Parts: sequence; structure tokens; C-alpha cells
Amino acid sequence: MEYADVVRTTFAARDFTDESLDDDVLYRILDLARFAPSGGNRQPWKVVVLKDAEKRKRVAELSVPTFRRYLAQRFAGENPWNTIEPTKLSDEQIAEGPDPSGYLQSMLDAPAVLMVFVDLRLVASFDSDLPRVGVISGASVYPFVWNILLAARDLGYGGTITTFPAGAEAEVQELFGMPPYMAAAALVPLGRPAKQLTKLKRNAVEELATIDRADGAPLASRPTPR
Ligand SMILES: Cc1cc2nc3c(=O)[nH]c(=O)nc-3n(C[C@H](O)[C@H](O)[C@H](O)COP(=O)(O)O)c2cc1C
Repeated sequence: MEYADVVRTTFAARDFTDESLDDDVLYRILDLARFAPSGGNRQPWKVVVLKDAEKRKRVAELSVPTFRRYLAQRFAGENPWNTIEPTKLSDEQIAEGPDPSGYLQSMLDAPAVLMVFVDLRLVASFDSDLPRVGVISGASVYPFVWNILLAARDLGYGGTITTFPAGAEAEVQELFGMPPYMAAAALVPLGRPAKQLTKLKRNAVEELATIDRADGAPLASRPTPR
């Protein structure tokens, strides 16, 4: 496929056909994904391919509290888990929210499931002294994760970046024999999508880029003045 077609049609695939996704395909996907950039080219990612059904089930179970709160906040019109506006929901309201077990198990039932960890010993977290949640560390692993989805798309497969296992990180680390400095960055279900989306909803360039200031003129595609 053309690069532009790949990036414009790599959607979050959550429903898959029964077709298996074999190790040789996974290998090809990861063989392309590994060309992702990372700070200092430290390549701090490690991938665990989840084959054991019991382990998959356990990850789904461990993720229930995190995703339950996510859904409860969504239903209440909040931006879930954001660090700027704390939730107004009580523990009781969250507990009464929708049960995410079915959704989580369906993700873990995908033809292939990857857990991606990032070795925080290798990441230069330049924002770690700032009084806000860190974002820089993720930049050394999510290009790799996104490359997995792009490579999968190019080969006719699809998947989704999910992050819900992070809420039970200690248990997830123990489950996979990962030490505490290996952060649980993403869980990626992969398979042959039941349906291929071709038109993704995304904001226009004018809505996301401005010149020189936050309130500057939007970057628009117009001839450069001479
Ligand atoms: C950091 C991150 C976390 C995400 N977590 C989840 C998740 O937990 N569950 C899920 O179903 N999708 C998750 N997604 C997928 C997004 O919902 C999806 O990329 C977005 O809605 C765009 O979907 P589309 O490409 O199909 O238009 C996540 C995506 C990113 C980048």
C-alpha cells in the first residue's frame, strides 16, 4: 500500500474475524515496527506475545477497575482519568457504572495480543521534575506501538492501542515476570478486522496548528506571499 493510504486508514480495529494471526506475520510486523525512533535510540521497548489463555483472562480481570472508572466518567460527561480536572464521581457511583468485563475479555480474545513494556531505566524523562503528569517518557515507546499498527495495516491486519492494564501495573509486571522499572505501556489486540474503515474522523490541519502563538493564525494551505 501507499504510505498515505496506510496512515489515512489505520483505524482502531476491535472486532476481528476468526482468522489466526501467525507468528511469522507477527514477526514481520515487529520487524517493521522496530524502526521507530526513541530518545537517544535506546529502543526501550519489550514485547510479550500473550498466548496463554489464562494469562489473557487475568489481564482482563486486572483491568476491570481502571476501565470501570473510565466508562463511569465517560457516561457522566467527564474526560476520564485526566490529571487536570479530578473526577466528581464517588467510589459508589463508579462501582455502579457499566461492567467492562465483556469488552475487556473481547479485546483479550483477539487472534493475537501484544503487551508492550518500556524500560524506564533507558528513558530520558525530561519532564520528570515538572509539576504535571509526565508525557515525554511515552514518546520513546508509542512511535513503536503505532508502527505496529501501521505495519499490521499494510499487511491487511488491524488492531488498537489500549492502555488499560497500566492501572494494575504491579500485578501485570508480576504476571509477566517484568521488574518494576518496566512500565506497562500498551496492550495491542491484533487480527484481521471484521470491517475495514476507510474514512477516519480527524480534525483539519487548520484546527490543530497555529502560527507563532496559541491564538495565532491557523496554518492554512495557501500560496506563500512573495
Ligand atoms: C493512548 C491510547 C490509548 C487508547 N486506549 C484505548 C482503550 O483502552 N480501549 C480502546 O478500545 N481504544 C483505545 N484507544 C484507541 C482510540 O480510542 C482510537 O485510537 C481513537 O478513538 C481513534 O479511533 P479510529 O482510528 O478508529 O478513528 C487508545 C488510543 C490511544 C492512542
